[in-house]
Amino acid sequence: MITIKTEKDLVLMAEGGQILKEILQALAQAVQPGVTTENLDKLSRELVFSYGQKHPEAHIKPSFLGYNSYPAYLCVSVNDEVVHGIPSDRVIHEGDLVGLDFGIIYHGWHTDSAVTVGVGEISKENQKLISVTREALALGIKEAKIGKTTGDIGYVIQKHIEKHGFGVVKELVGHGIGRKLHEPPHVPNYGFKGKGEVLKEGMTIAIEPMVTLGDPALVLSRDNWTYKTKDKSWSAHFEHTLAITKDGPRVLTG
Ligand code: MF3
Ligand code: CO
Repeated sequence: MITIKTEKDLVLMAEGGQILKEILQALAQAVQPGVTTENLDKLSRELVFSYGQKHPEAHIKPSFLGYNSYPAYLCVSVNDEVVHGIPSDRVIHEGDLVGLDFGIIYHGWHTDSAVTVGVGEISKENQKLISVTREALALGIKEAKIGKTTGDIGYVIQKHIEKHGFGVVKELVGHGIGRKLHEPPHVPNYGFKGKGEVLKEGMTIAIEPMVTLGDPALVLSRDNWTYKTKDKSWSAHFEHTLAITKDGPRVLTG
């Protein structure tokens, strides 16, 4: 069932979203050559717990740890890893593309957001990949209005990505979000105008285009979490949690 949030619920989700935004910004700044993905995981944990110590009434928690037995706080996906990379002793190098995906629970409400950062100097092609993915997310968000559909969102995202010759990942999709991390509906990054679920006031969704330089087909790694591209091409991922409101889309994590 698609859940509808009240204005009061949205206020709490927006507060959580702003905390998540700040944590994600701090994590992005910590992405430097020589840092391991585990270092970033540890930092994400510290940032949440130090906020929680200052504001015990917020009952803030990281949301991914333990989700379907996910073993870490943060997802860190490097280069040909698309999403759900498990932090490890892998060292980050100049030129890498590092996807950071994080979620928190604030007063019982989930928010979910992701960014991709280029480490130091990155190739022109990778710069383009990052900007096209970010633009595709922005275009998808603009469609998130009362009466539009999930297909309208997917359509504009796909069109923008394919216009630039990049690949749209189809095996994984965005999602409704609220008391749970993943709620209906599915929010694919492809689709047809007017198809899919009709958007209503008070729905909250996470839109998250995953874009590849080459073929978007994925393989699931032996760790059962990390999705990589089959052809080993590099990828980018951006995600925001947003609400459908009378005044249009309200980005909660931006
Ligand atoms: N943001 C990720 C998604 O929506 C969250 C993954 S949950 C985890 O798919 F357990 F994999 F971390
Ligand atoms: Co998500």
